[in-house]
Amino acid sequence: MIATVGAAPDIAAAVAALRAGGLVAMPTETVYGLGADARNPAALRKVYALKGRPADHPLILHLADAAALPQWVADLPPAAQALAARFWPGPLTLVLRRAPGVPDELTGGQDSVAVRVPSHPVAQALLRAFGGGIAAPSANRYGRVSPTRAAHVREEFPDGIAVILEGGDCEVGLESTIVSLLGPVPQLLRPGVIGGAALEAVLGVPVAGVAAAPAPRVPGSTAQHYAPRTPLELVPAGGLVAASARAAGEGLRVATLACPPGSDAATYGRGLYASLRELDARGVDRLLVEAVPTTPEWEAVRDRLMRAAATFR
Ligand code: TXA
Ligand code: MG
Repeated sequence: MIATVGAAPDIAAAVAALRAGGLVAMPTETVYGLGADARNPAALRKVYALKGRPADHPLILHLADAAALPQWVADLPPAAQALAARFWPGPLTLVLRRAPGVPDELTGGQDSVAVRVPSHPVAQALLRAFGGGIAAPSANRYGRVSPTRAAHVREEFPDGIAVILEGGDCEVGLESTIVSLLGPVPQLLRPGVIGGAALEAVLGVPVAGVAAAPAPRVPGSTAQHYAPRTPLELVPAGGLVAASARAAGEGLRVATLACPPGSDAATYGRGLYASLRELDARGVDRLLVEAVPTTPEWEAVRDRLMRAAATFR
C-alpha cells in the first residue's frame, strides 16, 4: 500500500479505501486517528494488527453527528443527550451501552461502546462522505505518543495506511475527555481539555474523577502510555538547572522541556506531543520535563506527563 498525502485532502480516495476495508489516517481536533469502517470486523482487526494493540482494548467510534447514535447505542440516557448537545462536535467521548450487532472488534468484546463526534473539518467531511461510523484509535503504535500532525503518522506507520489525510496541526493536541455513563454516577475515565467542572455544570451532578475509576479497560489508563522511547523524568518546577547538572555529573546527555511561569495550559497541551517527539529524536539518554501547575486546567497535561514518565525509576 502506498500512503498518499495531497495538498487538498483526498476525501474520495479515503472513502474508497474505507469501503474496501482499508485503513485511513484522519485528522481530528485532538490527535490524528487510524480509521477503519466500524461495521467491518476484518478492517477493525487490521487496526489492532498495525498498532500492535491488544484485542481487548476497545476503539472509539466516530460519527458525523448524534443522529446516527441509535444504530450504535442501546439506550441514550438524558445525561448523554445533554453532554452531546453541549460538547459535540468536540473533544468528548461518551461510553454507552452498545446496540445489538455492533462488532466485538469495535468494543473489545465489551457490552459498551465509546463514541464521539469530532469537530475537525476534514474529519467531518470524511464522515459525511463515508456515511457510516469510523472506528479510530490514535494513529500511533501501542503505548506511544499520539500524532498531532500528518508527518507524525507517516513516521509511526511508513506502510499499512491507504490514505493519510492532511489536516494541519491538531488544535487541542491531547486525546478527548472520556466519560462513562454506564453506571449511576458519571465516571471520568480519561481527563481531557473538557474538564470535570465543565461536565458537572451541564449535568448538575458530581462526576467521579479518574482516581475513583475501577481498574478499567482503558489502555490509556495503563501506567506506561503516551511515552517517548527515551526515559522521561519529571522534575519539580524550577528544578531543571539542578537536574541537568546532576545528570551531567552522571555522564548522561539530556534534553529538557520547561514550563515557564505564566504558561497557558491550552497552548502547552497543543504542542506537547510534537515537543516530546522532537526531544525523543535527539538521541539523548534522558528527557527532563519540568512539572506543570497543579490547577484543574492542567489536569489532562499532568495525566499525560505522568504516564510518559511511568517507566522512569
Ligand atoms: O481524542 C481521541 O479520543 C482520539 C481521536 C482519534 O478521536 N482517539 C483516541 O483513541 O485517543 P485511543 O484508542 O488511543 O483511545 C481510546 C480510548 C481508550 O483508552 C479505550 O480504552 C477507551 O477509549 N474506550 C473505548 N471504548 C471503551 C469502552 N467501551 N469502555 C471504556 N473505555 C473505552
Ligand atoms: Mg491512543
